[in-house]
Amino acid sequence: MPNTFLHPFTNPSWGQEDLINVVKAKGSILWDDKGKDYVDGLASLWYCHVGHDEKRIINAVTDQMNTLATYNTFAPFTNDVAVRAADAVAEVSPHPDGRVFFASSGSESIDTALKISRLVQQRRGHADKQIVVKRTRGYHGVNFGGTSAQGIETNRTGWGDLVPHFMEAPADDIEAMASIFAQHGANIAAVLTEPLQGAGGVFPPPEGYLEGLRRLCDDHDALMIHDEVICGFGRTGSWFGSQTFGVTPDLITFAKGVTSGYQPVSGVIMSKQVGEELETLNDLLRHGYTYSGHPAGMAAVMANIQVIKDDGLVERANYVGEKISAGLQALQDDGMIESFDGVGAIWGAELGRNAVPVRDHMLHVNGVVVRPVYTRIAMCPPLILTDDEIARLLDSLAEGLTVTPVDA
Ligand SMILES: Cc1ncc(COP(=O)(O)O)c(C=O)c1O
Repeated sequence: MPNTFLHPFTNPSWGQEDLINVVKAKGSILWDDKGKDYVDGLASLWYCHVGHDEKRIINAVTDQMNTLATYNTFAPFTNDVAVRAADAVAEVSPHPDGRVFFASSGSESIDTALKISRLVQQRRGHADKQIVVKRTRGYHGVNFGGTSAQGIETNRTGWGDLVPHFMEAPADDIEAMASIFAQHGANIAAVLTEPLQGAGGVFPPPEGYLEGLRRLCDDHDALMIHDEVICGFGRTGSWFGSQTFGVTPDLITFAKGVTSGYQPVSGVIMSKQVGEELETLNDLLRHGYTYSGHPAGMAAVMANIQVIKDDGLVERANYVGEKISAGLQALQDDGMIESFDGVGAIWGAELGRNAVPVRDHMLHVNGVVVRPVYTRIAMCPPLILTDDEIARLLDSLAEGLTVTPVDA
């Protein structure tokens, strides 16, 4: 029986009995209402970098709520905590001298970056530059801009007409991208890509791909947008995927790991140049969300960044990744998986068969949360995952591959 709550990305006919009722979480472990425990191999939904029940964030948010729980930042108002949070985000980013805009969800950050790119092109006198090029497999949220930018076709269809002027290139084909630029360069406002594609199944960029994209953007006066909603804040073994892969975009979207999910915060980091171009507007930036710079969210941003720094979690992403990739290598050597890809603490295993039954076994029998993406299993745990928990995750994957029928 469905209940009143219409769940996101869930069959609307499902009821409470078809779902796992999570009642508690601590570190990398969560518990359901029946007392069963699970290893959170997906950091909830790719976001809980510092792990669950982190009191340093909870206390910082509580203190902020007791001081100034909420007030907006539309002119003529501001608050110190938003100003400091923006500094803290910029400081660890590839644009320490840039500007930071805050929103509440990854989807809002995408639509913001799309609008800012178009605005910048208009300001440069390039009114005809409206096309945004994106890649297959890309996931860019569910607002109308992000839905139009989706490289996962099933997420894009069924909603009627989408936003015009999006073009898609096959994910790993820089030549295809180059020919889109050769044909439409004069009309391209921006390229939108995740540095490492996450929700599409965990695909790092092919060697030289992002560099090639940067060159195409430079040659055609297009902006480069990195969607770092998953990659940001340590996930890839640097603060940002842009740093891991050594390519600096003009705009970076972020969400998830910016607060490890303790408050719904997202945003866009802009280069110094983009920031300066906006300053010439001489008018209101007619874009903003009620909760942009929300004090409680901003307190979570600062506390979360401090926890990541204090506990060395950016480096720990690489430690977790070495352990996971060693386990995946062993599974590949045994012929149990076809291949695997990843970096830092985000990995995808290619099973060469439907991943859902394997995931179901891992979840329901072993109590291990991973994400099936067609024929792949995605892993993206908290950066604090212990050796025992890593072993439980890998053992469970091996068991799931062994006991479930290949043709299920
Ligand atoms: C790369 C990327 N961009 C955007 C989004 C959308 O974020 P949200 O679900 O917070 O709107 C996601 C969500 O998983 C994502 O992975």
